[in-house]
Amino acid sequence: MTEPAHDLLAFPPGFAWGSATSAYQIEGAWNADGKGASIWDRFAADPARIADRRDGRVACDHYHRFVEDLDLMAALGLRHYRFSIAWPRVIPDGDGAVNPSGLDHYDRLVDAMLARSIRPYATLFHWDLPQALEDRGGWAARATVDAYVCYAELVARRLGDRVKDWMTHNEPCVFAFVGHLFGVHAPGRRDLRTALAVAHHLLVSHGAAVPAIRAACPGARVGIVHHLEWVEPATERREDVEAATRHDGAWNRWFLDPLVGRGYPDDLRAWYGADAPRVEPGDLAVIATPTDFLGVNYYTRRIIADAPRGLFGRDVFAARQVYWPFVPRAHFDEWEVAPEGLYRLLVRVRRDYGAAAILVAENGTSWPDEPTAAGHVHDPVRLRYLARHAAAVWQAIQAGVDVRGYFAWSLLDNFEWGFGYTRRFGIVHVDFATQRRTVKASGHWYAALAARNALALADANATL
Ligand code: FCB
Repeated sequence: MTEPAHDLLAFPPGFAWGSATSAYQIEGAWNADGKGASIWDRFAADPARIADRRDGRVACDHYHRFVEDLDLMAALGLRHYRFSIAWPRVIPDGDGAVNPSGLDHYDRLVDAMLARSIRPYATLFHWDLPQALEDRGGWAARATVDAYVCYAELVARRLGDRVKDWMTHNEPCVFAFVGHLFGVHAPGRRDLRTALAVAHHLLVSHGAAVPAIRAACPGARVGIVHHLEWVEPATERREDVEAATRHDGAWNRWFLDPLVGRGYPDDLRAWYGADAPRVEPGDLAVIATPTDFLGVNYYTRRIIADAPRGLFGRDVFAARQVYWPFVPRAHFDEWEVAPEGLYRLLVRVRRDYGAAAILVAENGTSWPDEPTAAGHVHDPVRLRYLARHAAAVWQAIQAGVDVRGYFAWSLLDNFEWGFGYTRRFGIVHVDFATQRRTVKASGHWYAALAARNALALADANATL
């Protein structure tokens, strides 16, 4: 392994430094220009579901302010942008009639990116399923797979002359489990069998969409984005080691093994028993359709101990998280700040799943920093979090992992799902009363990192 020769950790030429967002979290304009309702419109309309009893109807009003937001991105020198397309804007009922204004909007958005030399990375599904499809069974229904492939093809045909980087799905595990097992994300269902059917259909639809996107968009690079965690057992006790294996299986292996043609892991299939999904002939081959890259979202590691098996809720996996007292935790959901977990995870993905190109499609942290009277946002913890994770990526590259890019989550403070506006992940602060944007100290720092394509060792070393 290479030791840094100087006080700078240099990234490979052409390494993509970008930022990421998703449609429901920033767009607002929830019913503008013919848009249909999504499951998040419906879910967040019930104030009891969201921590601050608010919703995404306005959010960052990005739908109306995208020019200003892209100007900001360009001013920061961030030349790579991962955004998502709201399916119900494009096909309000999920299948059937197309809404031309919806497609026009993304046309303008993409043109505005290219005019600023910003390369678009389009995510086709970041959780805002058309409510009309949910009413017919949502992702638990097999028909949603076909509807999704038609939608993906339509969008790729319209934008494919300019958008070359496509992400089929964002975090199938989170969408499936948090939305259909824990019930704290839309659509708020709580059933393991449903969650596993949803996960299976997401993976099948991913594989089925890959050739459709390629046919519609010559030169397309297509991949899926997974939420992956670094998992360790709390102790060497056999029960804890098994619980960690189970947690890793449920959240990581279940979603990665079938992608590389191994099917679903046997240990988890046995654990799920009759709740395991119905796999039709040909499904596994479809899921294993080769892709061009793997998107990895990384936020935290988990130290896992055995827990009694319960019927519902979080203990379905009979695993519980324990914390080491000396590891700092983020404002968000008690997530441990563990950059070495990203390094280990990237090395493991390469070792266990092959040498596909990797994009770190999301990484970031939420802290409640607000502007000072002088209008500056000091967010030293976010800055150091980003620096330490960028260092972990650098280290993985030294170890031979083919990481091509890194996208900070998020460009803007935004609607953080069940947490509403109480969690601020942006490198740009948003005042939701005035829609004023203020670049945080971390945003200025990140711009300098992107410009230099190298990280100062002193930043990488900074303790939180
Ligand atoms: C990820 C989601 C993203 C955001 C971050 C904090 O799981 O993909 O939309 O909520 O977490």
